Amino acid sequence: MFAIIGGSGLANLTDLERRRREVVRTPYGDPSCALTFGAIEGVEVVFLARHGYGHTIAPHEINYRANLWALREVGATQVLAVATVGGIRADLGPGALVIPDQIIDYTSGRKGSFFEGPDDPVTHIDFTHPYSESVRARYAEAARAIGETVALGATYGCTPGPRLETAAEIRRMQRDGCDLVGMTGMPEAALARELELPYGALAVVANHAAGIGESAQAISLEAIGVVMELAMERVRRILSACLRAPAGSAAERGSKADAA
Ligand code: HPA
Repeated sequence: MFAIIGGSGLANLTDLERRRREVVRTPYGDPSCALTFGAIEGVEVVFLARHGYGHTIAPHEINYRANLWALREVGATQVLAVATVGGIRADLGPGALVIPDQIIDYTSGRKGSFFEGPDDPVTHIDFTHPYSESVRARYAEAARAIGETVALGATYGCTPGPRLETAAEIRRMQRDGCDLVGMTGMPEAALARELELPYGALAVVANHAAGIGESAQAISLEAIGVVMELAMERVRRILSACLRAPAGSAAERGSKADAA
């Protein structure tokens, strides 16, 4: 079953034929919200709003472990995440949709692993390529199928939030090779990998990052709302197309490669 994790601006899926909600408890605490089960175009989906349905949970307060654990617990086999970001690369301006392929984690103190405590053997996961090739391919194919432009390949820098960054922080991230900046990509991606859940993200650029382009002096929070509303309609269409991806497509072949 597909899991969709919606971020800011995507607390519900209009195309989702809702069947039921379920409160799931986990050994790591409670997820951000009850899980919504339903179908999009006949394909079963479980949906989770990362910040809660009322957008009340800040990035540093999200129980990422409970969210991923709950999704796996109810039978999710792959995760399509949607994340709102700032654009660092000049060509990734407001409204751009991006499928990142790398991550740099600037957060600290978030509970970022299921392996803990004296009874668990120390376990290291391979995280060379943090996003699943199959989910990235699925997103890319879906966008192509419906004629939406998405940028392929970008490095997502994850900052602690909830404040936005300083211009100097963004310049440093730019030197590090970051193309996007967001607050929720980690540890979400790493936890999915620990659970061996193929995970990919569709990043929605809400604004130029601090100090860049029209954000040279400040980031306009009013402008973000308008951009996001329009962009999320495109995201919803891409998500629906993702679920329609036929067997034998590149996404499907990638799924098999992921599982190998
Ligand atoms: N920085 C971090 N996270 C974000 C931004 C940003 O500029 N815009 C949307 N999410």
